[in-house]
Amino acid sequence: MLVLTFDPEKFNFVAAGDDSYFLLRFPDGSRVMFQDRCAHRGSPLHLGCWNAGENALVCSSHQTKYPERVLRRQGVPLIYRAGRVTVLLDVASHAEARLARKNILAQPDNSPTDTSGAQGTAGA
Ligand code: FES
Repeated sequence: MLVLTFDPEKFNFVAAGDDSYFLLRFPDGSRVMFQDRCAHRGSPLHLGCWNAGENALVCSSHQTKYPERVLRRQGVPLIYRAGRVTVLLDVASHAEARLARKNILAQPDNSPTDTSGAQGTAGA
């Protein structure tokens, strides 16, 4: 287990071990860190979009939906305190972690999105 603390205003993406994770901020200010790999075929979920009507992240490849409740339930353990995020990543504690700032297209603020024809729901 790797414990990582960072400023979410500077970083919103972590690559650690063989995995990567992205940070979403919801309108109420709460945050979720989620593995950046779609359960369907592994596309990077941070390149998906947010469907405000369905309150769900939609994978850009085949439109699998990840409702907010699923993101919150399946996200990595996260503590937000005093302007800093601490996450517990399921990778070896000695794994190298690289923090980055990316354009998280799936960020709820990046709505509106036309996802008509969307299919599939992950973890429902
Ligand atoms: S890879 Fe995400 S829906 Fe297919």
